[in-house]
Amino acid sequence: IKVLAVASEIYPLVKTGGLADVVGALPAALHTHDVAVTTMVPGYPAVLNASEEWAIVATLPSFFGGRTTIKRATVGGLDLFALDAPHLFDRPGGPYGDLRGQDWPDNPQRYGALSSAAAELCTGLVHDYLPDIVHVHDWQAAMTLAYLHYSGLPRPKSVITVHNLAFQGQYPPTILGSLALPQRAFALEGIEYYGMIGFLKAGLYFADRITTVSPRYASEIKTAEAGMGLEGLLAGRAASLSGIVNGIDSQEWNPAVDPKLAANFSTGTLGPRARNREALEKRFGIDHDASPLFCLVSRLTWQKGIDIMLEALPHLVESGARLVLLGSGDREMEAAFRQAADLYPGRVGVVIGYDEALSHLMFGGADMTLVPSRFEPCGLTQLYGLRYGCVPVVARVGGLSDTLVDANDAALTLDAATGVQFHPVNAPMLQDAITRAIALYRDKPVWRAMQKRGMQLDLSWTSRAGAYARLYRELLA
Ligand code: ADP
Ligand code: GLC
Repeated sequence: IKVLAVASEIYPLVKTGGLADVVGALPAALHTHDVAVTTMVPGYPAVLNASEEWAIVATLPSFFGGRTTIKRATVGGLDLFALDAPHLFDRPGGPYGDLRGQDWPDNPQRYGALSSAAAELCTGLVHDYLPDIVHVHDWQAAMTLAYLHYSGLPRPKSVITVHNLAFQGQYPPTILGSLALPQRAFALEGIEYYGMIGFLKAGLYFADRITTVSPRYASEIKTAEAGMGLEGLLAGRAASLSGIVNGIDSQEWNPAVDPKLAANFSTGTLGPRARNREALEKRFGIDHDASPLFCLVSRLTWQKGIDIMLEALPHLVESGARLVLLGSGDREMEAAFRQAADLYPGRVGVVIGYDEALSHLMFGGADMTLVPSRFEPCGLTQLYGLRYGCVPVVARVGGLSDTLVDANDAALTLDAATGVQFHPVNAPMLQDAITRAIALYRDKPVWRAMQKRGMQLDLSWTSRAGAYARLYRELLA
């Protein structure tokens, strides 16, 4: 089966969150299921500079306001198409905004262009290339399915994966002309969404199948509480909607050989974790002692419950524990954590920024990983925590609910517990979860058993990708 994946991020070339990890890991995992994935991404500098071997496979002399080419290369095992449109993608800053974090004003045209080019690839733009399935990820790629629909040409079967319903790509109808879509597309049975143009809505409307990154999130988003205005559409499409829980790249995330750790370890030899812990204490400038060490690696946003964490922080410190935090995002949250580090010297360590290597060391050295999200389509840090013996303490929502077994009495008796969950998502419940986690930590045999149970789970994409392969085969049957 030939699949064209379309996405705005791909690890290791461009990453702002879990989307990149998933898009980067799936192709190799699907390969073992006889699925060949080619991924179409924007030609950001980081993408084009990653190879010298780019071959031009199509030229579009005037495309969304400038000369554009589609290039193909294999980069680190990934078979890629890059949309080389310098007027849209050759800029300093992040994928979605400038160096100050301000969104690019032409994002709808940038991702409209990505989607339009992907649609052309699906209808024979490039000699010798026609996918059986087009699989688009999130709003940035969703419009592909609208371009395909209005092209009127024969088209491949389609899948859209929702990684986060909070980002929908909504823009005023006045930009319609700049997207090269026909006027009639602006309709309820099309790209219109409450008087606006909705990129994600269009994808959800036109896709043959919709997936989310966990089963629980698939059911949550059919309700007003989590549907972010799309619950009606999603409930109407329930028969085509399912959840496939994310895996992790088990080569990138393998504590036995991970070069980003100070010391490697495995289920049989947890001892070396202590060296990672020491490395963390030094790096974050916190006390060296035997008290429980929590870590948190996250975008600092409302979704992630970072304000709830701040509220529960005094309780964590008063309970004798320590926290190391790595994250960036909301400027006020960044400032609040810097202040917290000053307020609790030795007990709270903070690094504001993005640091892939440090994140590995944190999961490999801390005792618990905190994920107090208000909503979480899947979440990957709890999976990294599980794999690295860093017991997850999480809100019971979305994928955080699907990927852990709470250490309640029944689960402990059955030797099934892998973490601590709390609900509803508020500071008192988080504090309660912190207290429970610390009590478990002090019971060494129980704690070791929990760490090992998590480490032994099969979280790899190799097995989970099978669900996508089955979905593709169903669509083609
Ligand atoms: P989301 O995609 O909503 O941000 P996920 O848990 O799915 O949440 O994925 C987040 C990914 O980004 C994980 O791989 C996590 O380790 C990584 N990450 C988040 N913030 C940072 C940071 N400041 N430094 C390094 N890695 C980070
Ligand atoms: C999104 C979600 C996160 C998920 C990731 C990868 O960014 O917020 O929960 O794990 O996508 O699917």
